[in-house]
Amino acid sequence: MSRIETLLSKMTLREKLGQLNMVASGYAVTGPLLGGDSPDAIRSGDIGNLLNMVGVDHVNEVQRIAVEESRLGIPLLLGFDVIHGHKTAFPVPLAEAAMFDRAAWARTARIAAVEAWNDGLALTFAPMIDVSRDLRWGRIVESAGEDSWLNAEMAIAKVKGFQGSDLSAIGSIAATAKHFCAYGAPVAGREYASVDISDRALHEIYLPPFEAAVKAGVAAIMPAFNSLAGMPMTAHEPLLKGWLRDKLGFDGVIISDYNAVAELLNHGVAGDLAEAAALSLRAGVDIDMVSNAYRKHLPEALSRGLITMAEIDACVGRVLALKERLGLFDQPYRRGTAPLAAMAGKIDHHEVARDAARKSCVLLTNYNEALPLTRTERIALIGPLADAQADMRGPWGGASVAEDSITLRTSLGKVATVVAQAEGVKISSDDMSGIATAVEAARIADTVVLCLGETAPMSGEAASRAHPELPGKQRELAEAILALGKKVVVVLFAGRPLTLPWLFHKASAVLMAWWPGEQAGPAIGDLLMGEESPSGRLPVSWPDAVGQAPLYYEQYPTGRPFNPNDHYTSKYIDAPNAPAFPFGHGLTYGAFSLSGLKVSKTVFGPNDTIEVSATVVNTGKRAAQETVFLFTHDLVASLSRPLLELRGFAKISLDPGQSGTVTIALAARDLAFPGRDLQPVLEAGDFEIKLGSSARRSQLLNTRVTLKL
Ligand code: NOJ
Repeated sequence: MSRIETLLSKMTLREKLGQLNMVASGYAVTGPLLGGDSPDAIRSGDIGNLLNMVGVDHVNEVQRIAVEESRLGIPLLLGFDVIHGHKTAFPVPLAEAAMFDRAAWARTARIAAVEAWNDGLALTFAPMIDVSRDLRWGRIVESAGEDSWLNAEMAIAKVKGFQGSDLSAIGSIAATAKHFCAYGAPVAGREYASVDISDRALHEIYLPPFEAAVKAGVAAIMPAFNSLAGMPMTAHEPLLKGWLRDKLGFDGVIISDYNAVAELLNHGVAGDLAEAAALSLRAGVDIDMVSNAYRKHLPEALSRGLITMAEIDACVGRVLALKERLGLFDQPYRRGTAPLAAMAGKIDHHEVARDAARKSCVLLTNYNEALPLTRTERIALIGPLADAQADMRGPWGGASVAEDSITLRTSLGKVATVVAQAEGVKISSDDMSGIATAVEAARIADTVVLCLGETAPMSGEAASRAHPELPGKQRELAEAILALGKKVVVVLFAGRPLTLPWLFHKASAVLMAWWPGEQAGPAIGDLLMGEESPSGRLPVSWPDAVGQAPLYYEQYPTGRPFNPNDHYTSKYIDAPNAPAFPFGHGLTYGAFSLSGLKVSKTVFGPNDTIEVSATVVNTGKRAAQETVFLFTHDLVASLSRPLLELRGFAKISLDPGQSGTVTIALAARDLAFPGRDLQPVLEAGDFEIKLGSSARRSQLLNTRVTLKL
């Protein structure tokens, strides 16, 4: 018998349910805090998993109780939300997506894993791969944005980064793909609201990132809080059991979201907690996070015949298998025992954070080469986010501490001539009394660097906004400064796009910094001063008006495409159709031209891969990096197909005057889509192949290829 079979044969029902129970924990000077339980609950086997306990000494203290004092000595699984860095705060995921850099995505995950491992942890509740097309939804900040293919690419890189090739290796932690699924499409962008999307959207847009994560070997999956067409995801048997387990063969662990099993009562699909526990266990949820419904009510569910012992055993077997893969049985105290440098290969985590922050900022506008600044320009640094240390880490700072974050106020003066500073207004206040001082500060400068945006908690979980604009009196501050007629460079900090058409028209330049992490100040300084050219590109279409939401480039055709001369065509009468900035937009200090689109074959078969290439020339005055996107369009198919679908990207760094070639591979199977029966289908015919620097259709190079089956 295997270790797991032996254990299962010895376990009491109580011990089995303990393995399916995850408790929120922490540490006080008096000892471990276990969500209402005492450490005796570990001894008795009632608690098999913990979240939020951090620090190797604390972890080992509770681990020792499990391993040395419980009857069967089964180690605890300790999970934590290592979302974008652990001790070292990297840019938020939406910002990281803007890097369009698989190696960088994997690198920050690896470093986060190493730091978390060193803190005693074995599992993270990341990556979040919810396609997010609605700026109102606060958790857009935790995603890779609007594109399904991009979320899938980031999922693969993150899973590799967190897990490495061996979960029991030094520095590896188990990843959890979340939130399964369609959590990013709540009705009207309101957090935790129900989701009602078509099966097509589900199979084409929301499921593929999870399929990619499963294929990349993700260890765990977390169902979403929401219901989908009336069925809460925590009890969604067709998708959890049918699709994930049976179709994809996912045999990892499914961990409910926080209290989500008990919330099945609020959803109105369970009459009591025994029913709720049975529904989610039968759907395939192995671990109940904090609701205690499994631990306390599965015995009753068993006696009422709602579930079987075999179903419980299957869940316990998967949890034990994960603990075994993590090496917890063989070396329960190993985490935290290797020096950081040995694990990270002497990489300086702060340098990686600075590099990631630089790469994720997106230069939205830059009129008359307002940026970069010169060292002699006299700068006034103004605004409520110039010195907001805690906010720089974003809404999910993990185990990082605010004091480690460096703001522009601390760092800009070291590389630029800062002659005045003023906060102007506070974000969450209507007090305008500081505006006059800020205007005076601006008067003595040549240039204003104006730091505006949200506070970090204004995005993230439970932070939907109906008015995604500048909160408080920041607009009044900005308008007073802009009225001086000076050069005004805005650095925007937020976890989502903000609808600010007036600002984009009036400011000399706008740099979107998202939440850049602990190295915010130095990284933004590098970009403002031209030490490095901005290179980030938008992973979301940036709306002009909130009424455009949900907004995304991957639009289906309409029978009445917009025609300015025909009233009865698809449009708003009070807003443009186009976003303020398209998906993929991002300026650099270079200037690029793209020409000579070539495909290696114009007629190809189902097993072929073609190469799509073009010449890029930097016609500008500074070295910079261009990102080129490959889109496809299936011209005539059995179903209407989107006008553009992202299928690849490439980056190229060029000096002024230099030219180079970008080549992107496109496999015929990348042109498949869910057919009328929702099964993947590859249809013969003509496809447009488009290359360009954003999803603005009018600016894409275009050629045609023919797929023959
Ligand atoms: C609730 C969030 O939805 C989820 O993403 C997170 O992992 C858990 N809380 C645990 O903190």
